[in-house]
Amino acid sequence: MTDVTAIDHFTDQATALDPYAYYDALVRAAPVYIEPRYGCAIVSGFEEALAVWRDPDTFSSANIVAGPRSPFPADVEVSGDDITALVEEHRSAWPQSDQIVAWDPPLHTAHRALLMGLITPKRLQQNEEFIWRQTDRQLDVVLAEGTCEYIDEYAQPYTLLIIADLLGVPESDHQRLLSLVGMGGGGVVGSTELHDKSAHHSLAPLYDYFVAAIEDRRREPRSDVLTGMAQSTFPDGTVPEPIEVARIASNLFAAGQETTVRLLGTALQIIAEDPELQKALRADRALIPRFLEEVLRTQGPIKGAFRLVRRTTTLGGVELKAGTRVFLANGAANRDPRQFEDPMEFHLERPNVRRHVAFGHGVHTCPGAPLARSEVRISIERLFDRTTDIAISEAHHGPAGARHYDYMPTFMFRGLMTLHLEFTQ
Ligand code: HEM
Repeated sequence: MTDVTAIDHFTDQATALDPYAYYDALVRAAPVYIEPRYGCAIVSGFEEALAVWRDPDTFSSANIVAGPRSPFPADVEVSGDDITALVEEHRSAWPQSDQIVAWDPPLHTAHRALLMGLITPKRLQQNEEFIWRQTDRQLDVVLAEGTCEYIDEYAQPYTLLIIADLLGVPESDHQRLLSLVGMGGGGVVGSTELHDKSAHHSLAPLYDYFVAAIEDRRREPRSDVLTGMAQSTFPDGTVPEPIEVARIASNLFAAGQETTVRLLGTALQIIAEDPELQKALRADRALIPRFLEEVLRTQGPIKGAFRLVRRTTTLGGVELKAGTRVFLANGAANRDPRQFEDPMEFHLERPNVRRHVAFGHGVHTCPGAPLARSEVRISIERLFDRTTDIAISEAHHGPAGARHYDYMPTFMFRGLMTLHLEFTQ
């Protein structure tokens, strides 16, 4: 079995590319593990992870992408059993401090309400019509050649335009939006947003787009979704600044684009790698949602994120002093044998197939989960309608049994960098 003490989870490349043996050893040995090199706690146990998500008062999200080292400058002494004031003092210095995912209640609560106003069930239903149309448009592009690089040629522009439609960006502006984020020429938005400070500003053009749209609709209301967004208020009735709404809107791209791209890639890889499974899914489309949940459990796009202990506490029998960084490992919790029988195996018929935490839990639980599920389900449905077989390109990935795939080289994300597919129509 993998020796967890021998591996530096945060720098070891082999573990970043394939973390599952490490996770398995970790969750069996120590569901709450103090990584000796960093003094950071890695939480891999399912119930222990739920306890963290359920207690944002104790576990702040301020350092969500700040890494395993102390988020405080070297000269700041972390002492005492309650560092709430210190966290607030340093909050703005941490990466993604302007994004809702890094906020704690009560600030988070008000903005989350604003956010949920943008992703209402009605809006999602309207958006689903666009998803079907966009699926066919994007498939027209990739099916024409009979072969494609699925990540760049399908998944990236597809997911971006679906979020744009959700937010009411008119279709006449879609190409503009693609080029604003550098995607016209195959660029990627948000690919490193969750872990790379340098990519932090790639959303700036989107902020500008939405600020302008909101100011425009406040001056001249129309009967469109952007007008609804412009007129939205906080729960206490106060009117947000245009930048506050624009930020929420732009953040949806950061949070929802790259993640869904990777889920699409992994789902298609599994389908193309396993002809028997593909046949079963083609024969019974009702299995697709279960299939998706099991993809999320076994290879969810987010492997984990950080928290910061604000008040000294105990988790899974381990004392965590105020100031301890916690890596909340969704990818490991989803393979906790106390929760999932035979956790390393892919089982469509698993009774608790939806119990995974690929979308997190608690106050920050992913508001885009229904959208991500629809995008992937509809992509698979239409691909099945329009092809008789989907296969891995041996020219790019090698023959069955000796494949080569490039995975994202980071401990935070799981997903393919490229996926070359071949289609039989
Ligand atoms: C397969 C795709 C996706 C996965 C695996 C995923 C996963 C997650 C996870 C794990 C969180 C919680 C982070 C934490 O608590 O530390 C989260 C939050 C969030 N997600 Fe997703 N997500 C996906 C797709 C989407 C989509 C499509 C959207 C929007 C259109 C979206 C928008 C958000 C937002 C705005 C947050 C922050 C919510 C908050 O802080 O209250 N996500 N997501």
